[in-house]
Amino acid sequence: MGSRMIKKDQQKQRDLFESERNFRLLVEGVADYALYMLDPTGVVTSWNVGGERIKGYAPNEIIGKNFSCFYTEADRANGKPQRALQIAREQHRYEEEGWRVRKDGTFIWASVVIDPIYEDGNLVGFAKITRDITERREAQLKLEQMHQQLAESQKLDALGQLTGGVAHDFNNLLMVISGSLHILRKAIGDDPRSQRALAAIDGATKRGASLTSHLLTFARRQSVNPQAVDVARHIDAVRGVLDVGVGSAVTLKFDIAADVGPVMVDVAELETALVNLVINARDAMAGSGVITIAAHNDDADGKYVAISVEDTGAGIAPDILSKIFDPFFTTKPIGKGTGLGLSQVHGFAHQAGGTVKVTSEIGRGTRIKIVLPRRETAPTAAEVRIADISGSGTVLLVEDNPDVATVSAGLLEQLGYTVRRVANAEAALREIELDGIDFVFSDIVMPGKMDGLSLARHLRETRPGLPVLLTSGYSDAALNVRGDFPILRKPYEIHELSRAIAKLPR
Ligand SMILES: Nc1ncnc2c1ncn2[C@@H]1O[C@H](COP(=O)(O)OP(=O)(O)OP(=O)(O)O)[C@@H](O)[C@H]1O
Ligand SMILES: [Mg+2]
Repeated sequence: MGSRMIKKDQQKQRDLFESERNFRLLVEGVADYALYMLDPTGVVTSWNVGGERIKGYAPNEIIGKNFSCFYTEADRANGKPQRALQIAREQHRYEEEGWRVRKDGTFIWASVVIDPIYEDGNLVGFAKITRDITERREAQLKLEQMHQQLAESQKLDALGQLTGGVAHDFNNLLMVISGSLHILRKAIGDDPRSQRALAAIDGATKRGASLTSHLLTFARRQSVNPQAVDVARHIDAVRGVLDVGVGSAVTLKFDIAADVGPVMVDVAELETALVNLVINARDAMAGSGVITIAAHNDDADGKYVAISVEDTGAGIAPDILSKIFDPFFTTKPIGKGTGLGLSQVHGFAHQAGGTVKVTSEIGRGTRIKIVLPRRETAPTAAEVRIADISGSGTVLLVEDNPDVATVSAGLLEQLGYTVRRVANAEAALREIELDGIDFVFSDIVMPGKMDGLSLARHLRETRPGLPVLLTSGYSDAALNVRGDFPILRKPYEIHELSRAIAKLPR
């Protein structure tokens, strides 16, 4: 009977020993968590492998030291370690995420739990569990950032589709107005009143064309003519305009690196973007200040070119910073700003495969930087050359809109060409069979099975000697052309048409 009691006791002891040993092995062996004990004042009394791995201390380096050494200097100065223990005591638990310092001085983002341990109602210390969640936090932040960027780009895309559609229809109207003007001007002779009226229509049409052009660049639907552009030379070309534009009280400075690389952009778009940025800079400075236009290669291997405009003006408030690229966002009084300047800049940069970056400080100024991919080679002579001659020969005009066709035919005839008109690609092919066509001038977007681009591709196969000039107000098809065929942007004026025809390979 007695021996059975003893045996039972021994068994109990062994079980206890076994379970304690298991527990110790568990605690000591856990590598992903720092599990350790503190005495009531915060001195470390035990340490495990996880603690060593996460915080970098071996047991003999940390046992006996106060756990406050895990906190940042600022947290220590604020009494945070002691407060954590106090909260654990009062609320029976303390939980937090925050920065902690490793032995080598590097920081980790830690998830921390502190539990008070009581024995017979007396506080004997604290159990502390720490986990390194730096990577998780970084992943989370990155995700949030991506979410935000996505939302931003979706918003801009939606606005782009809307504005692109409106601007496209407008362009056809403007084409008719500006083209008809040219014909009227000849007809009315030099009656001054009629001339004035014509000049007013002309001015309004040009303004309309420039507005829709901004909208289209924002919508990234402009049928662009990318060329290899010498950045320094083109900034120089707009210098005069900018100087006059900013007025005499503002100093315009140029900081153009001699070795700045060429970029592949639409020249007109680049110049417009520069003007938009400089005008914004001028408007941000009440009268006087300095505007610096800089251009240099942006990174060590020179893959990018940065063109920036910096001012010493009012700066941009943080709460509106995310809106400044939205079309029609303006803080300027009615009649002063349309809110399309930066939309154009944004569209231009993205279309060219680049980005726009803004840095701004209230009261000190703003810098807007366009970063564009650098083109490998310098512009060729042929790309720079612009011929302007009046022509002869027969052109086949392919255009489905009868008003636009009439206007275009008028312009072509003024330039000296004989015009044959058709309304779609199928009719064009039949007309070409009849021979006598020197080149084809075709709209891209047309009803029917074949659009202008397919027509051009077909002709390149079947009639390689027949030059094709395409035109478009916009279309995603126009972007597909990507330099395969020359494109003339609508609305165009007679000299632009003449130049585009002169550049056709023949
Ligand atoms: N350099 C700058 N300094 C301070 N604020 C600026 C600067 N550039 C732009 N902004 C702010 O961003 C807004 C939008 O600029 P954006 O060029 O798109 O339109 P806008 O200048 O108002 O009108 P628009 O250019 O069509 O005439 C401005 O109204 C202004 O509040
Ligand atoms: Mg502006």
